[in-house]
Amino acid sequence: MTGTGRGTGATPQQGAFQVVSLAARPELTLPALELLAAGWPEFMRHDPTAERHQARLATELAGFQALLVDREKDELAALGVSIPFAWDGTLAGLPAGWDAVVEQGVGDLDEGRRPTALSALSVTVAPDRRGQGLSRLVVRGLKAAATRAGLGALLAPVRPSGKSAYPLTPMERYVRWARPDGAPFDPLAAHPLAARGRGARGLPSLHGDHRRGGHLGGLDGAGVP
Ligand SMILES: CC(C)(COP(=O)(O)OP(=O)(O)OC[C@H]1O[C@@H](n2cnc3c(N)ncnc32)[C@H](O)[C@@H]1OP(=O)(O)O)[C@@H](O)C(=O)NCCC(=O)NCCS
Repeated sequence: MTGTGRGTGATPQQGAFQVVSLAARPELTLPALELLAAGWPEFMRHDPTAERHQARLATELAGFQALLVDREKDELAALGVSIPFAWDGTLAGLPAGWDAVVEQGVGDLDEGRRPTALSALSVTVAPDRRGQGLSRLVVRGLKAAATRAGLGALLAPVRPSGKSAYPLTPMERYVRWARPDGAPFDPLAAHPLAARGRGARGLPSLHGDHRRGGHLGGLDGAGVP
């Protein structure tokens, strides 16, 4: 998220917030779960992969969950969930989507494979705190977690963020919807970064993952600065 799209471009008062890991503040696990429940479309809350591995993300992998805490109120304002995984650095070596990277990260943990990259799984800003650019601070927190763990890349599987409002429309049709000016209808696909990816360079364009009903996009990557 770069300040070039439809956001406010506001610079949040960084000093007002502290980024900590869930490992440092395990007592914020319940507020974090409540924030996820409030922030996500219903279908995302019943993902079998998420349900199976949520507890391990919150315990063994708590150091990779970034909490943005309002210092004055000591209140959770936003949350970044991520998982480390072993990646060979090639596009072909990327897991096929959100659930695939979760399965791989958990498998790497179980098999003792050394992770080399961090995959963001979600960024959630409390509904009453949106539009202030807080998601940028969360992404920064995830980058810091990657750097701390010696991981060389932060990646993020993306989904067409407006699709859940049109559950009866097949993904294949939805991703072709356009605005009158020709830009993609979906807010994420219309973002300048995604538009850049449709060119020869930059991020790969949005595509459906058809293994389980086509709800998820592929993985886009960016090096950790
Ligand atoms: C998406 C979300 C994290 C953005 O929070 P935020 O920081 O308050 O958003 P802002 O309004 O300050 O905008 C920040 C950037 O996100 C983009 N953005 C905001 N909502 C978006 C959406 N629904 N789809 C795509 N991009 C979005 C904005 O265009 C902006 O980009 P820019 O800075 O390049 O212009 C927040 O709306 C949220 O928690 N939503 C529910 C959970 C979710 O969908 N998370 C994203 C996928 S993991």
